[in-house]
Amino acid sequence: PRRLAVMTSGGDSAGMNAAVRSVVKMAIFRGCEAFVIREGWEGLVRGNHTPENTPSATPAVSRSASTFFDTPDTKGKASDLEHNPEQSDFVPTYGEGELLREGVGEAQELGLRGRYIIRVGWDDVRGWMDQGGTLIGTARSKTFRTPEGREQAAYNLIINGIDALAVCGGDGSLTGADKLRAEWPDLVASLKAKSRITEEQATKFAHLNIVGLVGSIDNDMATTDITIGASTALQRICEAVDSISSTAASHSRAFVVEVMGRHCGWLALMAGIATGADYVFIPERPPQGEKWHSEMCAVLQKHRDLGKRKSIVIVAEGAIDRELNDITPDMIKDVLSNDLGLDTRVTTLGHTQRGGKPDANDRILATLQGIEAVDAVLEATPETPSYVIGISENKITRIPLMFAVEQTQKVAKLIESKDFDGALALRDPEFAE
Ligand code: F6P
Repeated sequence: PRRLAVMTSGGDSAGMNAAVRSVVKMAIFRGCEAFVIREGWEGLVRGNHTPENTPSATPAVSRSASTFFDTPDTKGKASDLEHNPEQSDFVPTYGEGELLREGVGEAQELGLRGRYIIRVGWDDVRGWMDQGGTLIGTARSKTFRTPEGREQAAYNLIINGIDALAVCGGDGSLTGADKLRAEWPDLVASLKAKSRITEEQATKFAHLNIVGLVGSIDNDMATTDITIGASTALQRICEAVDSISSTAASHSRAFVVEVMGRHCGWLALMAGIATGADYVFIPERPPQGEKWHSEMCAVLQKHRDLGKRKSIVIVAEGAIDRELNDITPDMIKDVLSNDLGLDTRVTTLGHTQRGGKPDANDRILATLQGIEAVDAVLEATPETPSYVIGISENKITRIPLMFAVEQTQKVAKLIESKDFDGALALRDPEFAE
């Protein structure tokens, strides 16, 4: 059977566990052996300690992926792991899921024991649908950004016999996936030249089958309508602003609420609509000069004149340039206090936006996209491009990974160079018309 692995990478987002669950179950359903890679690209670079790749200072690991299934003391034997949906007396099946429950700090010390690539069975992902964060861990890997790191990652995939990889992460993580895809033939040739892999392995793994799932609260990936985790983060922001609203109204105060989103204003803008905020700052329409002082004050004053007892200003973190001290939440607070005489507080929502249970939208999106991801990666041929799974007009889509990454980078560059209309036209072509 083919071996398919799934990993999460970059900042976690609600729904990533639902995506991993979906990929694992669909992979097994399609007759594959399913693996998870812990700690994102970092875990893939580290791989499983085997006699060939174990640093001498670290104790060698008891079982390598290839010998695991022959070890009598293991819970899951290869034959137990296959889930046959036709089978009426379905027996729970576990792979090495118990290893997942060991924390990474402890795992590193124990040397987990030096294991980052773990075979999982159908029931290892049971109960994952509604869990927040990512249970298989994630990391922003510096090593993977080096050519040596990527060569080691390629090596670890090949020696574990994994020929299909699903990556759930944000634009940075999918850029990493695209880089690995582009370099793959050279990496395989280099591993072969160093005799780290055999001729047979070089031929078998000549093509990297990779698929992306966009997991990010920022909703900043071009070519897809919404990313896994964005809906939940938006809900979290709305709940927080609702709470702030009641205390704000009690004291007749103004609040400046800073939300996440990196370079993208989607969370701030949508939260502004959903909470009926008075004013929103987004990176796609950043305030020019000092005109925003009078503009914002005029809007807030008008609302006060209409009898509103609270004022809410939502600021996307991407609209703030702390280094240039261009505009900061404290600066907005000062304008509201000094020009309107409003008793003003600043609240930075921070990581509360990212954690916690996924909402129904993210569970459904992650599940449907996980299913599509498995089919896309299993159907891949050397001629087909690698895909990222998206959603457009309520339909799950496959978009060439290279195109999605390029478009996203173009948008970021246009915003950086302050061509905001150009950026919006790329994100949403209808806007240009
Ligand atoms: O990309 C997701 C995100 O939560 C951004 O909205 C935010 O800018 C960043 O990650 C925060 O990163 P960290 O968790 O490393 O502080």
